[in-house]
Amino acid sequence: MSEIILPKFINIGAGKVNSVNDILKKLNCENPIIITDKTMVELNIIEPLERTLTEMQIRYEIFNNTMPEPTAESIEEGVKLIKNGSFDCIIAFGGGSPIDSAKAMSILASKGGKMEDYKFPVISLESGIPLIAIPTTAGTGSEATKFTIITNEKNDEKMLCVGPAFMPTAAIIDYELTYSVPKRTTADTAIDSLTHAIEAYVSKKSNIFSDTQAISAMKLIAPNIRKAFNNGKDQIAREKLMIGATLAGIAFSNSSVALVHGMSRPIGAFYHVPHGLSNAMLLPTVTEFSIPGATVKYSECAKAIGIASFNDSIEDSNKKLLTELKQLNIDLKVPSLEDFGIKKEIFLKNIDTMATQAIASGSPHNNPIVPSHEELILLYKKLCE
Ligand SMILES: NC(=O)c1ccc[n+]([C@@H]2O[C@H](COP(=O)([O-])OP(=O)(O)OC[C@H]3O[C@@H](n4cnc5c(N)ncnc54)[C@H](O)[C@@H]3O)[C@@H](O)[C@H]2O)c1
Ligand SMILES: [Fe+2]
Repeated sequence: MSEIILPKFINIGAGKVNSVNDILKKLNCENPIIITDKTMVELNIIEPLERTLTEMQIRYEIFNNTMPEPTAESIEEGVKLIKNGSFDCIIAFGGGSPIDSAKAMSILASKGGKMEDYKFPVISLESGIPLIAIPTTAGTGSEATKFTIITNEKNDEKMLCVGPAFMPTAAIIDYELTYSVPKRTTADTAIDSLTHAIEAYVSKKSNIFSDTQAISAMKLIAPNIRKAFNNGKDQIAREKLMIGATLAGIAFSNSSVALVHGMSRPIGAFYHVPHGLSNAMLLPTVTEFSIPGATVKYSECAKAIGIASFNDSIEDSNKKLLTELKQLNIDLKVPSLEDFGIKKEIFLKNIDTMATQAIASGSPHNNPIVPSHEELILLYKKLCE
């Protein structure tokens, strides 16, 4: 059995953002800095967090200058602020981008160095400043993963940084914070979490613990994606997506992601496609390529997501899985590369570098079928057809 790593405290439920005070007490912290983004402040999504801290007379500062899909440069200002302040913990509030930014800031502010120094295959063990993660999207699972992903702007590489050092000390999973997530982001983040669950399940690093989390995540996420997309105020769908996303994060953090994520990061870094959206663009094509390497496990995914029955054969279940993943992209209006505005000639020109970066990230090695460099290029080319 693998070593399992989780946050020390995970508080779950409607309005649980209020429990931040309780967590601060348990961690013996009283001077937090909130790392967030401008949307959280402008749309006042951060209000319940601020109200709770103010009620308990906790002094805090807010840094809201994080960027979506953070770059190494974008976290420098926050690192300086933390180094020069007297904060004893970080509250990361927002989607995966502010949470990943905060994880990186926590390590750089306490251990020094540059983000490149922490890039996989380096495994970072020692934690930095304690971090409480409060996600406002139901997607990345970053609140319960031992990863952060920071883009190196010098070569457009999304660097995967790995290790217990990146596991938040505590997480608060409050689905009420996701009611305001726009339609497109609801779809993209939900597909990201579904991809985490499927990839954790079929990964060569899967184990009984991660399999159990992954199957539960698929059962919660899949039937609720279209519901939350069509009605953002659907309480049950929002709640199930949120818990599903955290479970999927726990699953892949204790197993791994695989080829979809390996190929997705270069698309995100080169063309600024949001992370979940580039996963969605890849998921049907990569699943089709990978099924022969794990026919039984993929058929179990089809059953967990509710589109195959226990009487269906392995082959029929896998056919249904592919049909569903393609239909899901149609229903969620996932654009093609071209519709997103990426010119085919430019995409083809960068394919070789993207394939090299995908392999270097390590994720494709966990796939049921490990593609060669040439096969990766063919898979990328399929996205342009
Ligand atoms: N660390 C991990 O384990 C892990 C796993 C997967 C992805 N990621 C990373 O996470 C990042 C993506 O995170 P994300 O998909 O959550 O998106 P995001 O954090 O970039 O947010 C997307 C947009 O949605 C807005 N938003 C977020 N919550 C909102 C809310 N409640 N209401 C209204 N608007 C809201 C944000 O302001 C932003 O404009 C990428 O950088 C990706 O690489 C990390
Ligand atoms: Fe992801």
